[in-house]
Amino acid sequence: MPRESRLEEALLRRAERIQSLRESCSQIFSLGRKITLEIGCGKGHYLSAYAQANPEELCVGIDLISERIRDSRRRAERREARNAHFFKAEAFEFLEAMPRDLKLEKIFIFFPDPWPKKRHHKRRLIQEKFLNDIRKFTSVGTKLYFRTDYAEYFEWALDAIKANPNWELLNDNTLPFEEVSQFQRILPNFSTLVAAAK
Ligand SMILES: C[S@@+](CC[C@H](N)C(=O)[O-])C[C@H]1O[C@@H](n2cnc3c(N)ncnc32)[C@H](O)[C@@H]1O
Repeated sequence: MPRESRLEEALLRRAERIQSLRESCSQIFSLGRKITLEIGCGKGHYLSAYAQANPEELCVGIDLISERIRDSRRRAERREARNAHFFKAEAFEFLEAMPRDLKLEKIFIFFPDPWPKKRHHKRRLIQEKFLNDIRKFTSVGTKLYFRTDYAEYFEWALDAIKANPNWELLNDNTLPFEEVSQFQRILPNFSTLVAAAK
């Protein structure tokens, strides 16, 4: 198949995924409430505990891997955290599926894939496009919490946030809630940063 047709097909599949995500999230989106979003929630260790401790917040976890979403849903059920919802979704596609007027309450990103090889750095989540895109769903002061064990990615994230006029780095890097995620258990040496939307 020629390159152009392959590209067209990939774009078509992406549009279909976004449409189907809109449909599966429609009940949550139609509430019109702010969402506390965890991107790359893995098996839901953090968000299910967070949601249980903060029943007044509407919590959504997304991950690329279906099995992890199934585990997350089970974990939230066991905790009776009915305000925790999990969807198989890629971060940019989830943002595209979100209604434009919906806002995020908080954003959690813990132990994201570090993409250590230089040629793969462009796949890292924290970079200019992501920071700009997600800013559209935040209000001034909305916080983004980021934690990684990978020192070089931490420095990269600090630089990306410092260089971005839409976000400011905060001195206080405490999380609103602590729960050891699956990756935090195996990677106990990590750094945390907190940024606020400007
Ligand atoms: C290293 S795991 C960390 C999981 C969890 N946050 C933890 O601390 O245990 C990274 C997770 O991010 C997911 N992920 C990677 N890129 C993503 C993206 N663009 N959108 C959504 N999830 C993503 C992966 O599928 C994986 O489950």
